[in-house]
Amino acid sequence: MNILGISCYYHDAAASLIRDGQLIAASEEERFSRIKHDYGFPKQAIEFCLEQGGIRGEDLDYVVFFEKPFRKLDRILASVLQTYPQSYKVFRESMITWVLDKLWVGSTIEAEIGVKRDKILYSDHHLSHAASAFFCSPFEESAIITVDGVGEWTTATIGVGRGNEIRLLKKIDFPHSIGLLYSAFTAFLGFEVNEGEYKVMGMAPYGVPRYVDKVWKVVRQNQDGSFALDMDYFSFQHSTDQTYSRKFVELFGDPRPYNLNFFTEGTGFPKYFGDPPSNYNELCKLNQHYADIASSIQKVTEELLLGIVRSAQQLTGLKKLCIAGGVGLNSVANTRIFKETPFHEVYIQPAAGDGGGSLGAALWAYHSILGKPRNFVMKNAYWGRECREAEISDFLTSHNIRHTILRNEDELLDRVVERIVGAKVIGWAQGRFEWGPRALGSRSIIADPRNPEMKDIVNSKIKFREPYRPFAPSVLAEAAGTYFDLEDPPAQYPPRFMLYVVPVRPQHHATLPAITHADGTGRLQTVFEDQSPLYYRLIKRFGQATGVPVILNTSFNLRGEPIVTTPANAFHTFSTSEMDTLVIGNFMVDKSTM
Ligand SMILES: [Fe+2]
Repeated sequence: MNILGISCYYHDAAASLIRDGQLIAASEEERFSRIKHDYGFPKQAIEFCLEQGGIRGEDLDYVVFFEKPFRKLDRILASVLQTYPQSYKVFRESMITWVLDKLWVGSTIEAEIGVKRDKILYSDHHLSHAASAFFCSPFEESAIITVDGVGEWTTATIGVGRGNEIRLLKKIDFPHSIGLLYSAFTAFLGFEVNEGEYKVMGMAPYGVPRYVDKVWKVVRQNQDGSFALDMDYFSFQHSTDQTYSRKFVELFGDPRPYNLNFFTEGTGFPKYFGDPPSNYNELCKLNQHYADIASSIQKVTEELLLGIVRSAQQLTGLKKLCIAGGVGLNSVANTRIFKETPFHEVYIQPAAGDGGGSLGAALWAYHSILGKPRNFVMKNAYWGRECREAEISDFLTSHNIRHTILRNEDELLDRVVERIVGAKVIGWAQGRFEWGPRALGSRSIIADPRNPEMKDIVNSKIKFREPYRPFAPSVLAEAAGTYFDLEDPPAQYPPRFMLYVVPVRPQHHATLPAITHADGTGRLQTVFEDQSPLYYRLIKRFGQATGVPVILNTSFNLRGEPIVTTPANAFHTFSTSEMDTLVIGNFMVDKSTM
């Protein structure tokens, strides 16, 4: 039985194909359309899923959309009418997109995929989130929390999963939303909403949470974990382009200009920014103020999530927890949940945001509607498209790109390790690309984490990112405990997908300077031989050469672009940056010999 799940028209559009309960393929549309966070109908992701499954649209038994369009329309109408006429603009814009796209999603699915109306099902937004975690987890029974910006009416739920059933027990409705609260601060700190949230999380360790009391003025939490925003501080409920109000600015001061380079006394002034400005000290102080705000909102978000999780524990009495929704990508908060609550087994799948809703919707239909038993655990993120050998070879040959063919795995590993040890930066594209926003060794830029200069080298040569964005370490699962303060790392699922941030053991700060963040932590990826054989053996070989089985891993893309998909994308990124070597499949291109 083939079931296709679809999510689109809000954040990340995506498609997922399951067959008899097993995941066959899943991808966000942005990987194909090359439009970051593409939310349009995921035509190319669907084509890929069908191709990977070796089927056509008419072979699908069901297509499941990740939410109920009418319920969402109801929310928009109600919230807009409450704040009318301030909200006229949002009303008009919403109506245009609703009439054009969302209400007609059934017709679009019918026309684009060629399935009959009676095969199209609609899940519920937060049920799709819950299903995307629980039905991919190894747990027979667990508590589930979903937390996002907003889906239909709801912004957070507590639920319970048992076997092939999920029940949502409690919920919080719009406009009270942790996702939208965090996004308001993301915008205030000069970043793009739905994109810059990671930057806020990365900036937080450079600050001191001195404004926590002020943040608690705009949001409050009750004993039972429920929470409410004071809507006087926000404007997302009646504006399409402004998330916080004048009262918010009166409380926190002027917003951070979006083009202000970020540096503090802690980061120093990165060489790749050029010469320090004449008002360096003044700007350091100003940035410190914003880092303190980032630290404060991060801290309050963690407290809010801990409140929800404790309530989930009291309601369910269970010891295992699944987390989903965009807020589930806050790896710092996830770690506190693991360490500070009675939940000692946590599962989060890599596409925790709306893209993952497509997978949740398909799994919900299979298990909860059709009543089929579970037979799948997601242990890796490699559900995207692979670059085929002929495709790579044709691309390189037809563009006259000088390359070396690596004859076997040994030669490939030796050549790559030799370059990493020699301080080179490598573009690494192998196997099927990752599901979700993190690069996990299929489309990664890799380098030597032991080199104190490497953070600046990668930032300046490749990503042009700001210094607060930490690079992540990929480590052999069985060696992770040596370098990172985490209990029994191979037993934990979230670090497989870089969803925990844990302390680097103090004696290894000096061993791993390029991946140790300002506060002594690292967002580790545990790598398993049975799930990522080539990447595992690369890290192992690097460990044999250097004594440290850890590699610096960052996503293979230029700033502002989606992660690379095809040989053409990979080569474009390689040639427009100062990366030294590109390895796609068993083909290697060295910039020095091009
Ligand atoms: Fe969502």
